[in-house]
Amino acid sequence: MTSTTTTSGTASRVSGDIGVGLISVGWMGKLHSRAYQSLPSVYPELGLSTRLVHAADTAADRVAYARDALGYERGSTDYREVLADPDVDVVSICAPNILHREIGVAAAQAGKHFWIEKPVGRDARETGEVAAAARAAGIVTSIGYNYRHAPAVEHVRDLVAQGVLGRITNVRAVFFAGYAAEPKGALSWRFKRELAGSGALGDLLSHVVDLVSYLIGPIAEVSALTSTVYTQRPILPMGSATHFAVIEDGELGPVENDDYAATLVRFSPTAQGPGPVGTLEASRTIVGPQCGLGFEL
Ligand SMILES: NC(=O)c1ccc[n+]([C@@H]2O[C@H](COP(=O)([O-])OP(=O)(O)OC[C@H]3O[C@@H](n4cnc5c(N)ncnc54)[C@H](O)[C@@H]3O)[C@@H](O)[C@H]2O)c1
Repeated sequence: MTSTTTTSGTASRVSGDIGVGLISVGWMGKLHSRAYQSLPSVYPELGLSTRLVHAADTAADRVAYARDALGYERGSTDYREVLADPDVDVVSICAPNILHREIGVAAAQAGKHFWIEKPVGRDARETGEVAAAARAAGIVTSIGYNYRHAPAVEHVRDLVAQGVLGRITNVRAVFFAGYAAEPKGALSWRFKRELAGSGALGDLLSHVVDLVSYLIGPIAEVSALTSTVYTQRPILPMGSATHFAVIEDGELGPVENDDYAATLVRFSPTAQGPGPVGTLEASRTIVGPQCGLGFEL
């Protein structure tokens, strides 16, 4: 691939075959791979094609899956080999949150453009370190806040910006997922503070915050609470199954972060007057909605 990068860090031109590197072949690693593969058929006008070059995961069977099923040319159990591969132009960082800072900074220092999964680290300090490294390297980055690009969301954003909806006074948004609704749902890395940081707050509410900020503008004030609904779950080793797994009679370990997070927010003033107010909520243990992200203005 050839690319030209402007001083503001945005790519002005890319052409040819984009060499893709993948770090972590879990749930999102597969999804990113499918997205790259569909680029030429979904956006033929770009004249771009992708080549799945190099995938890494510490689980050897997932490396084999990346090569044999997803079609990567090379595989490795050390992510640094992906970053050192000269055929890799862009890297997808789909590792657990604990690794986002280390891998994000290393990818920037290797000069690789990257698409990193949210929440980009375990806290704001780690997010800031990845952002600073990317800025210093002048690379192009993207974060997995994928819902903002849904056509319906883009349309609402236009309606708000054009004033078609009048002055926005209230915002209500939720992300209710049931992946941990089952009390015997596995204790994956998502439930451990050291590996994930926060729970539903970083995993789900981060999408909501991104979405409403994209639609309305920045949030100026916030108060919040969190709750852990199930305090123990059956242990799941890293690199096996997914966070949807249910384990009967497994050894239990403590859930260390939140199953539910709610916030009361005030947005910054807009051109039409004082900032709107509203509520944002997320749960990973709700019974009913499997993956329901919605908002009302
Ligand atoms: N944008 C979205 O909608 C969305 C949805 C789900 C997950 N995510 C994010 O994607 C990331 C991954 O989540 P997931 O559900 O795919 O997790 P997962 O548990 O399915 O996969 C994680 C993978 O990382 C591998 N891994 C662990 N240590 C590693 C290391 N040192 N080097 C390389 N690989 C390593 C594991 O073996 C596993 O295969 C998380 O940050 C999560 O928040 C985003």
